[in-house]
Amino acid sequence: MNAFPPGNHDALWLPFTANRQFRASPRMLVSAHGMYYKDDKGNSVLDGCAGLWCVNAGHTRPRIVEAVQKTVATLDFAPAFQMGHPLAFEAADRVARLAPGNLNHVFFCNSGSEAGDSALKIALAYQRLRGEGTRTRLIGRERGYHGVGFGGISVGGISGNRKLYGSLLTGVDHLPHTLDLRRNAFSRGQPEHGAELADELERIVTLHDASNIAAVIVEPMSGSTGVLPAPKGYLKRLREICTKHGIVLIFDEVITGFGRLGASFAAEKYGVVPDIMTVAKGITNGTVPMGANIVSDKIFEAFMQGPPEAIDLPHGYTYTAHPIACAAAIATLDIYAEEHLFERAGALSSYFENAAHALRGYPHVVDIRNEGLVAGIELEPRPGTSTTRAYEIFDRAFRQGVLLRYTGDTVAISPPLIVEKNEIDRIFETIGRLLKEID
Ligand SMILES: Cc1ncc(COP(=O)(O)O)c(C=O)c1O
Repeated sequence: MNAFPPGNHDALWLPFTANRQFRASPRMLVSAHGMYYKDDKGNSVLDGCAGLWCVNAGHTRPRIVEAVQKTVATLDFAPAFQMGHPLAFEAADRVARLAPGNLNHVFFCNSGSEAGDSALKIALAYQRLRGEGTRTRLIGRERGYHGVGFGGISVGGISGNRKLYGSLLTGVDHLPHTLDLRRNAFSRGQPEHGAELADELERIVTLHDASNIAAVIVEPMSGSTGVLPAPKGYLKRLREICTKHGIVLIFDEVITGFGRLGASFAAEKYGVVPDIMTVAKGITNGTVPMGANIVSDKIFEAFMQGPPEAIDLPHGYTYTAHPIACAAAIATLDIYAEEHLFERAGALSSYFENAAHALRGYPHVVDIRNEGLVAGIELEPRPGTSTTRAYEIFDRAFRQGVLLRYTGDTVAISPPLIVEKNEIDRIFETIGRLLKEID
């Protein structure tokens, strides 16, 4: 069977894809169950990256499927502007209860990108509402990824995602990234060195004055840019500096949320609570698009001070709190809780870590990084090119029945949290074999 349907295949423009290369040699998925996809030739493909870091409970879980089916037949759509529905309130309450500290208020959107842009807008508006309207500057980090909206790419720090799009948002600065192969190569979990890189925020504050800075946004562990766990002490230091200077701290937990690191959120794992958290992906197990901002009491309350009849946040989406997404989120959170999947990820993480680091010394490997159920294997690029080795591993692995992810020169692994030890072995054995095969 070949699942390429008849018709003009140029009609579909795939995102973040070399479209001509893809059409010459497609990788097609036709179904999924548990840890496995099926490709168009009927081959089983072990999911080594939870789809795209999102299918944390494994594929086509009946509980989620049934919740979605029931909801689509009962309440296919409900407007979220000046209207509500019970699933939206229930989903928000469930997400807020999972979030640490005083992150008690949930604003729904449809993706991690929308969550990133929403968080920046909420932070700017918050500063103005509390009488600090000169605070308009936004601080991101080199190598950060916060999706593809204009806000997200402006504070993001991946040059390939920025360079085609002009001047982006003005008034944005970047902290330095935290990858330091010289001091931290082959770290297990959080690297020892680099907490002092958070002090760069003090330098930016000195340059612009805190009265001009609204917010800082970082991923507690950068995923899309090649798996960079924050160095030990770094996030705590950022928190302290933000608190000292009245800067809103935003954690982008689109990847790290919902168990990926062996805790509900990185904020919980590291004991550092931001003012706003952006989430998406695992919130619905990838089944239905959904993102959210989880916002602190202090920020939420600042929006509740005006006349009660005034719209407090002039922002939102047609599909905010879509009933089907809310139903999927509730069912997903039920599965996470009942199967103790976050704890399971934590318990498996040292086995996973050992399997990843067993590839140290293999051809082309210059670093291996890991945290929870995420690992990145960074390869030496071929002279004069980048990414071709990592792409080749990704492509060959797929054709041998293992789905990986590659980003730059890093092969990334982040399986569903239901992964078994023999499947972890298979993922890393496949990578090891391919590292020896390719030039
Ligand atoms: C940390 C982070 N933020 C934001 C996003 C964007 O999410 P989406 O693709 O749902 O817009 C991603 C996607 O990978 C991400 O990893």
